[in-house]
Amino acid sequence: MNATAVDLAVRLGRLPLSNPIVVASGTFGYAREMEHLVDLDRLGAIIPKTITPQPRAGNSPWRTVETAAGMLNSIGLDNDGIEAFVEHHLPYLAGLAAPVVVSIAGHDLDEFVAMARRLDGLAGVAALELNISCPNVTGGVDFGSDPKLCRRVVAGVRDACNVPILAKLTPNVTDIGAIARAAAEGGADAISAINTCLGLAVDWRRRKPLLGAGMGGLSGPAIKPIALRAVYQVAQAVDIPVIGIGGIATIDDVMEFLVAGATAVQIGTANFYHPTVTMKILDELPAAVTELGASSVIDVVGTLKI
Ligand SMILES: Cc1cc2nc3c(=O)[nH]c(=O)nc-3n(C[C@H](O)[C@H](O)[C@H](O)COP(=O)(O)O)c2cc1C
Repeated sequence: MNATAVDLAVRLGRLPLSNPIVVASGTFGYAREMEHLVDLDRLGAIIPKTITPQPRAGNSPWRTVETAAGMLNSIGLDNDGIEAFVEHHLPYLAGLAAPVVVSIAGHDLDEFVAMARRLDGLAGVAALELNISCPNVTGGVDFGSDPKLCRRVVAGVRDACNVPILAKLTPNVTDIGAIARAAAEGGADAISAINTCLGLAVDWRRRKPLLGAGMGGLSGPAIKPIALRAVYQVAQAVDIPVIGIGGIATIDDVMEFLVAGATAVQIGTANFYHPTVTMKILDELPAAVTELGASSVIDVVGTLKI
């Protein structure tokens, strides 16, 4: 098989992507910051930092701590709010070839719905990712840990707009499959899994948490096995596509997630220490697909033998 002939295109419900390599919310700024390092047009999709209805100052420092094979963060959704995003960031994002999936978070259903209405139909908004999984703010994560609330918020947003919807789930639940099923029933086009794993770092001499907010979200290679497990469980639970997230830093990681059931992947923490990692992975993807005897990414998805 010729690696140059490999079909990289995938679909996340109503959202077509030229390839499955996506950058994760909160780890790629609003993309402009990365334009001198990364050929943004090559990315399968771009997910900017989550926005909220009002500006948020975020949590007090420290906001990040390095851990073994990863990092803990409690940024607290620091952002300038939806209107600043529409005015200052969206015009730039709309000019990129890669589809932009706008990540939104609200405290309640009404806030999610209002944000979806505001963004629907604007140039540059290819889809919405509902951040119902941030461990560093109160409110939003409840939608990601209760199936009924999850279904309600997804259905509410689905009714309020015409763009495709991704539901981003937290791993900090007992049964992620049940939450994914609820999101699918609510009308999600795809499931993004996972957001960070709740963690704690301690300065024992001061008897204090290292993060200003106390607990935070663990990300990076440390969480990859948890994310792979979650993606596998979600893929078994629903018929809609799954986007794998968690500790992905190499082509081998990407292939593991595809085989486990992910139709696409998001690269997060790796962007911080290897800003061109997505370009390297894109260079290596066709040969890796070919190595499995496949001629398209789709043929690899969910082929894990258990
Ligand atoms: C510093 C930092 C900020 C993040 N901010 C957001 C965010 O605003 N919205 C969101 O949905 N996820 C956010 N995340 C979670 C990532 O998108 C991703 O789900 C998680 O880090 C796991 O992937 P990774 O191990 O590749 O980083 C953030 C992660 C980090 C490390």
